Amino acid sequence: MRNNIKKQFPILNQKINGKQIVYLDSSATTQKPQCVIDCLSEYYTKYNSNIHRGSHVLALRATEKWIEAHKIVAEFLNATSYEEIIFTRNCTEGINLFVNTYAKHNLEKGDIVVLSEMEHHSNIVPWLMLQKEIGFNIEYIPVADNYELDLEWFKSLINKKKGRIKIVSILHVSNVLGTINDVKEITKLAHKSNAVVLIDAAQSIARLPMDVKDLGCDALVFSGHKTYGPTGSGCIYIKKEILEKLPPYMGGGEMIREVSKKDFDLNELPWRFEAGTPDIADGIALATAISWLSEAVKDMGGYDVLINHERDLVESFISQFDGIEWFKLFGSRERVGAITFNLKGFSFAGCKESKIDSNTRGEDILEFISSQGVCIRDGFHCAQPLHDKFGVGPTMRVSLGVYSTQEDIDRVVLIIKQGVLRTL
Ligand code: ALA
Repeated sequence: MRNNIKKQFPILNQKINGKQIVYLDSSATTQKPQCVIDCLSEYYTKYNSNIHRGSHVLALRATEKWIEAHKIVAEFLNATSYEEIIFTRNCTEGINLFVNTYAKHNLEKGDIVVLSEMEHHSNIVPWLMLQKEIGFNIEYIPVADNYELDLEWFKSLINKKKGRIKIVSILHVSNVLGTINDVKEITKLAHKSNAVVLIDAAQSIARLPMDVKDLGCDALVFSGHKTYGPTGSGCIYIKKEILEKLPPYMGGGEMIREVSKKDFDLNELPWRFEAGTPDIADGIALATAISWLSEAVKDMGGYDVLINHERDLVESFISQFDGIEWFKLFGSRERVGAITFNLKGFSFAGCKESKIDSNTRGEDILEFISSQGVCIRDGFHCAQPLHDKFGVGPTMRVSLGVYSTQEDIDRVVLIIKQGVLRTL
């Protein structure tokens, strides 16, 4: 089954240095199935044109596909209408849109925005930037020793600061710890304080069923490139009743209906938030990716099958290092998507306490792994505050996609072990 899925990804059917590629960096970006590549090629060969502008045959076709793409995403998220779906270039752009529209116009000094200690930089930096302008407070839900969010702490914050908490912006699945956060419960708690909730679904969108009505959230963002779609695509869902009241984000063509020398009229939703010529091909191909993913999940027997397969791969990876003194898992064994770890005794560039002058062997291991056609990531995974909290330097990460197999896991384990042994 997984091998049938894998065959649909041409990039995974290549050799590097004569070795079959093993791609285990899907938390950074997923690979693209042939149908997504074909969709991009078809757009440029058959109907490339600007949308919502001309009335010629190509413009009409592109516009129709653009609207249809919004409808496909709306259905995938169980949104009420495609009017709630704004296409962006990525998750980061979606969060910046929310911060610079909803947050900017609703926050004042003394208000509280709640994030968590496991956020990636995309869901920290835009808030810090706005904080410098407005002076609100940011509170971080702590990550407890079991690597889960401390919801008791959150409940007591709500009790203490009721009314001051205006926004809760929280990630669904950690790209480092692999923790699945109970965002439905967090949303329920936040709504008790009348706070608005934004969910960062960057790592959950392609592995968990996504239903914004069931989650109860007010907004949700994700990147297309982590959903088997193209780079340059992404989406923010915002509930219509909130969206209708938002000021525009960027100004320009497409977001207006009429413009005079003195004023302008806003276009209807969602185009009001899609100023300029958008990434048309990528947005249309994002919808193709989402339709492909829905079918693939259905064919394999549903999301439970997908997630259980991931859990089995995670457990297999970790258990193959059981008892090995130099392998240090970061996070708990109960996780999905990403397995992050340190190699004790080896130093890596960027590690605060690393003595690069006396020990550079970590770099040698990474080079060896890469030379074997195995793609994993090292670094802070765009989540430096989380690493700092636990005092771990940059880590190595193996992350899974819908095409990941037991053979991939066995190969990466072997290569990591060989990499370490040859440098000892
Ligand atoms: N946030 C992305 C990652 O985890 C880029 O690698």
